Amino acid sequence: MSLGKIIDKKNNDLSKRIDKQKVPEHIAIIMDGNGRWATKKGLPRTYGHRKGVDVLKEIIKVSKKLGCKTLTVYAFSTENWTRPKKEVDFLINLFSEVLRKEIEDIHEESTKIKFIGDLGPFPENLKKIISSSESLTRNNNEFLLNVCVNYGGRQEIVKVAKQLALKCSSGEINPNEVNEELFNSELLIQGIKDPELLIRTSGEKRISNFLLWQLAYSEIYISEVLWPDFNEFEFLKAIIDYQSRDRRFGGIESLPKESFEDSQYFS
Ligand code: FPP
Repeated sequence: MSLGKIIDKKNNDLSKRIDKQKVPEHIAIIMDGNGRWATKKGLPRTYGHRKGVDVLKEIIKVSKKLGCKTLTVYAFSTENWTRPKKEVDFLINLFSEVLRKEIEDIHEESTKIKFIGDLGPFPENLKKIISSSESLTRNNNEFLLNVCVNYGGRQEIVKVAKQLALKCSSGEINPNEVNEELFNSELLIQGIKDPELLIRTSGEKRISNFLLWQLAYSEIYISEVLWPDFNEFEFLKAIIDYQSRDRRFGGIESLPKESFEDSQYFS
């Protein structure tokens, strides 16, 4: 499947600037700005969340076209419970409604859907539909959609620490064996590489307790656009920006040797 033409203000086709070999395999997204988008239009905040679902569907489609393999989206944080009950209830109903309506298509497109977070406090009907959606799509391997709900990065890290402490105290492992690999094996997201790119919309420059462990070396792209206005064009801009970055992971591999040796510290 090829990308169609995506023309910017200077009449450049953005799709031509994408290097298909360098598309992130895993992209994490903080879909922010739904409420502000609706309020700006004089609409209830819930309209923003509804529009946000359409945008997510579009971004999944584009991700697949680009060859990205996994999207992990922040749909409901552990802090979101502090919102007015009406909005929390709306979001919970929206998750069920979207799953009911979309799960057949999700499955037909060979997408696997996983919900990441503590599902405990959610109503039984949502838990049921989450569980049936996850089992239906369990063996799909074209694309993975991780939906983080009642998720908090710190909570996840504490949970892993507790789990490892229990294993140490029962003698199953020795405290000296605790390392990054073992820590990784207890995380909620398993078997996939960490996101190479985090996109946050609405201009906010925070991680907001999202994937604190997994984002250690991710490139961060802040889009000024509110999530309901985010689209293929804005997404491609994020990927192009990512592709222009020099990912060194704390090293200096991409620094030309001469410039290192010529630097004032070696003269
Ligand atoms: C942040 O905007 C957005 C959310 C808290 C909810 C996002 C949820 C969806 C788009 C639904 C996804 C559904 C499924 C089934 C995957 P905000 O309300 O914090 O906006 P604000 O910062 O303008 O107030």
